[in-house]
Amino acid sequence: MTSSERAGSFDHYVQQYAAQMDEPWADMLYQLLFAQLGQVLTPTMRSALTVGCGLGTTDRFLAEQGLAVTGTDIAPAMVEFSARQAAEAGLAITYRVQDAMTARFDQPFDLIVCHNVLEYVDLPEFVIANLATSLRSDGLLSLVLHNPTAKVLKAAVFNQDPERALALLDQREFHYELMNKSARAYTLKEAVNWLHLCGLEVVEHFGVRTLYDLIPNQPKYDPAWHQQALKMELELSKRSPFQEIAMFHHLIARKKG
Ligand SMILES: C[S@@+](CC[C@H](N)C(=O)[O-])C[C@H]1O[C@@H](n2cnc3c(N)ncnc32)[C@H](O)[C@@H]1O
Repeated sequence: MTSSERAGSFDHYVQQYAAQMDEPWADMLYQLLFAQLGQVLTPTMRSALTVGCGLGTTDRFLAEQGLAVTGTDIAPAMVEFSARQAAEAGLAITYRVQDAMTARFDQPFDLIVCHNVLEYVDLPEFVIANLATSLRSDGLLSLVLHNPTAKVLKAAVFNQDPERALALLDQREFHYELMNKSARAYTLKEAVNWLHLCGLEVVEHFGVRTLYDLIPNQPKYDPAWHQQALKMELELSKRSPFQEIAMFHHLIARKKG
């Protein structure tokens, strides 16, 4: 499959994806991710690359923190949307259409962000190896991955569907309905192993939405409840066993010097 064939299905779902951004669970996701990124950003960091930038939400956060951001995505429609949003926000972010499998850059970056992208590529470990070549020594990679364990929990608790929970136990493939895309979830162990093989050392592991996805949706639209849940999630994101069952794993890995 070529890059433009791979981009195809992502290209068609920009508006649907953008509409989801108004949901409280999207808000919770980005608030948690930004708080976690905020913990690892340092004043010496100057440049950031985002791979599979989607709608550019994280790009704008990083640019607001003073970083020179380059946003990339395989789907031209995502890049166009993100560039428009950045311009409207008055943020100078560089955008390029690029496949994470083959992307090459002239200068190494202080930070590379790859959030919820490896699920859709054929060779995730190859993407990490490729990204590692664009990271400066001691630079950080922020990697977010779907957690297969959380999918079993969600089926059993939130959906109250024990049959589906059992079926998901040994199933890594899932369907990302928002973009009508088949995807694959990886275990924490696999991700840590790839990072290690690519010369990156895991320095932080955060859980993202540890218990939130197990709670019925009804209270999630109440802003006061949302704030309480955010406080709880921030606390649980660094604690075992909550971080291990979170909907997403957020790993911060440092490139060995
Ligand atoms: C679920 S979205 C995540 C967007 C963004 N990282 C975020 O967290 O808001 C996945 C994105 O990865 C992009 N993508 C998928 N395969 C890619 C590849 N091989 N190279 C670059 N981007 C890719 C898609 O076009 C889509 O925008």
